[in-house]
Amino acid sequence: MTGILVPATKPVVLVVDDVSANRELLEGYLYDLGYEVRQARDGLDALEKIHAEEPDLVLLDIDMPRMDGLTLCARVKADPLRRLVPIILITASHDRATRLKGLEAGADDFLTKPFDAKELLVRTQVLLRDRALNKRLDAAEGVILTLARAVESRDGYTIQHAERVALFSREMGRAYGLDGEDLDVLYKSGMLHDIGKIAVPEAVLLKPGPLDERESAAMRRHSVEGERICAPLRSTAHYLPIVRHHHERFDGQGYPDGLAGSAIPLGARLVAIADAWDAMVSDRPYRAGVSRDEAVRRLREGKGAQWDAMFVDLFLGLLDQGLAERARPRP
Ligand SMILES: [Fe+2]
Repeated sequence: MTGILVPATKPVVLVVDDVSANRELLEGYLYDLGYEVRQARDGLDALEKIHAEEPDLVLLDIDMPRMDGLTLCARVKADPLRRLVPIILITASHDRATRLKGLEAGADDFLTKPFDAKELLVRTQVLLRDRALNKRLDAAEGVILTLARAVESRDGYTIQHAERVALFSREMGRAYGLDGEDLDVLYKSGMLHDIGKIAVPEAVLLKPGPLDERESAAMRRHSVEGERICAPLRSTAHYLPIVRHHHERFDGQGYPDGLAGSAIPLGARLVAIADAWDAMVSDRPYRAGVSRDEAVRRLREGKGAQWDAMFVDLFLGLLDQGLAERARPRP
């Protein structure tokens, strides 16, 4: 028995072709294969439809007026929110040059006219299976990020701390010359860095005064706990080193592994500075934040001891350019 608790939904396939007879033909095939079909007349029409309702798969002709298939494909694949939508390019022949252009534009597969129903089924099924998996990974990642926000609120800390750490870390990465997915990893690791605090007892987390030795040990466990929480999710694999090592110190006196210098993962060295800065300047229930000048002084003092000197300089440079003001998230 399937579809009892979760109603079965048909995958939505968008067919893009300027020739209506071709669209109708494909729609017929796809309908018989159990898909829900939408149609678009050209690239621009398709772009609008993709934004209005994200399809699970796009079958795309190449030669079309207004916007051709290759341009549309490149546009979709460059959009971080849509790039996981699979695209099959329909080519008229085994034209190698067109296929290469298609691959360059990010196409996931090709289909050659005239269509063969069996081939169409196999190619669409493979991509739709990946699509379903990616959707589930996305959902899992969303749950973890929501959990991260819950941790922040439980901490009694301002709920926007994680978001600022995320923004600062990403901007540092950008200034260092990273791009694309690396920046995304920095942002999300910044959001998740303290997720392990969910395993720290409230009495320790919310204690206003200094922690005794046992309490400190419980608090320090949050970086390893964070790694443990994220570990089963493949989509968070790249965040693990940052979550685990964000309390390492450049001189090797940090935790959990006492790593020193460049043995500390680069992302963790960046997040450590963003985290420390925001912790210093933010008010906590039991103490007021320090002034910006004082926080800058402490960062400078910790260069080469607590933090990577090069990244402290990078961060201070960004502060001079107004990073703290720009990175204030919406209330
Ligand atoms: Fe932490």
